[in-house]
Amino acid sequence: MPSVRSLLALGLLVTPAVFASPVPQGNGNDNGCKNGQGNGLSKKCTSTSSSTSRSTSTSFSTSQSTSTSTSTSRSTAVTPTPTTPSSTSAAPSTTVAPTSISSTSAVSSTPSPSSTAPSSSGFKLLTPTKTATTGPLASATGMADAAVAIGKYFGTAADIPGTGAASDPYYLAGLNNIHNFNQITPANIMKWQYLEPQQNVFDFTGADQFVALAKTNQKIIRCHTLNWYQQLPNWLSNPATPWTNETLMDVLVNHIDQVMGHFGDSCYAWDVVNEVFNDDATATWRDTIWYRTSGPSFVSVAFRAANAAKAKYGLKTKLYYNDYNIEYLYPKSNMAQQLVANLTTQGINVDGVGLQSHFANTFTPSLSSQQQNMAAFTALKNAKGVNIEVAVTELDVRVPDTGSLFAPSASVTAAIQNQQVQFYWNTVNACATTAGCVGVTVWDFVDTYSWIPSTFAGTGFGDLYYQPGGANSPLVGKAAIDAIIDGFQNVQPGTYA
Ligand code: G3I
Repeated sequence: MPSVRSLLALGLLVTPAVFASPVPQGNGNDNGCKNGQGNGLSKKCTSTSSSTSRSTSTSFSTSQSTSTSTSTSRSTAVTPTPTTPSSTSAAPSTTVAPTSISSTSAVSSTPSPSSTAPSSSGFKLLTPTKTATTGPLASATGMADAAVAIGKYFGTAADIPGTGAASDPYYLAGLNNIHNFNQITPANIMKWQYLEPQQNVFDFTGADQFVALAKTNQKIIRCHTLNWYQQLPNWLSNPATPWTNETLMDVLVNHIDQVMGHFGDSCYAWDVVNEVFNDDATATWRDTIWYRTSGPSFVSVAFRAANAAKAKYGLKTKLYYNDYNIEYLYPKSNMAQQLVANLTTQGINVDGVGLQSHFANTFTPSLSSQQQNMAAFTALKNAKGVNIEVAVTELDVRVPDTGSLFAPSASVTAAIQNQQVQFYWNTVNACATTAGCVGVTVWDFVDTYSWIPSTFAGTGFGDLYYQPGGANSPLVGKAAIDAIIDGFQNVQPGTYA
């Protein structure tokens, strides 16, 4: 364990701060994994080969057309109909044909929480008791359309290839719909255990498939993650010879160089370092193999390596620190801010901070708290003198749910659904109203494939769609979808009520 003196010398010992506003408890996202063995979700990841392709485009523009669609739905098609890319760029296209969608559902202006009748397409929408102020479902606007209209993106994580989701045509049709998702994050396949299963033996097969799918569907890619304490290969977690600071940092630098070099500017951003702090009120450093071996300096080593790779390969990709319970004014948020400030002081560039935003109906920070928090991050200047950006990187809102993955139990009342609607709106609207917030990503979008129930027993229903017929059956959209669209559109001060 490094001494306090050594931490101070490294400029990475940050002291707990005192905050003006008391903050509620964290979300307890730590699933207890200490050695990279995961959290017990029973999904299998296999892969087949595909080629690597790189894009040099990492920007996203405000020019995506939202007017080409004639249908009003975001439903599913039995056969996925990927959009036709207008270029090989990872950036969103300006002219995108909608995927096959056929729902006639619209937000009723009359609150009707019990309205869940399926449409003829098999798509149904849980009508919220809160009515969207702008009636978004009466237009052809999807969630990404609404985001792009104000210069941001909206996307989702996806645990593909090799999982059930990857072969579910309804899931894929929803995923590929550029009007709803113009950004994508690999939920797992770019993590260390998949990319470097043996020391210095890299396997990009599955990740390349992911990138190819993303590009086919014109999605911005946030790449995740170069340094984490979970999902590490065994050779790294349990080395034959214990790591020293020198040997472990060599391994880290090599991984970052190889991986960033491979994916190039296919990645709009990389989560360079993920989740280094504990969740307690004093936000101490998490006890991981990285910290135990190298102290906090592994963070600066990682960011130095990532900046070096950017220079070596001539990349534009943005370099992020990513964590949870840093979405509101809380000691852990302050720790993350100080981390960025300390790296900046050392001349090490950080481009952005990812606010994971794994929320629950029992705990979600208010709109103003999230806005203030985003303002605090985006006021920070990086080593280039540029204000850092923020992104909502892993949003979901779980609720008490003892039902199956496929259908909510009776505990998911209309009142709870309305809380969920409101909380999705809060986070999206905080991003929409913060100039330095570049976009929002949900951590998968169909409950069937959510990480939540296996980690937080007795909770679920946290994503935007569910499948009452089980996997490989039509998706049902939740009222939160309307709230997300409204959250992007309603950029004047207001509430979704
Ligand atoms: O790949 C193996 C497969 O070989 C094996 O047969 C199967 C058996 O269970 O497991 C497969 O690995 C699973 C992996 O997901 C791939 O699907 C792991 O068990 C499972 O634990 C792992 O869970 C992932 C979790 O990170 C690991 O902690 C979730 O899908 C993923 O959504 C979640 O994502 C994290 C972010 O990266 C960081 N922020 C928090 C977020 C939620 O925990």
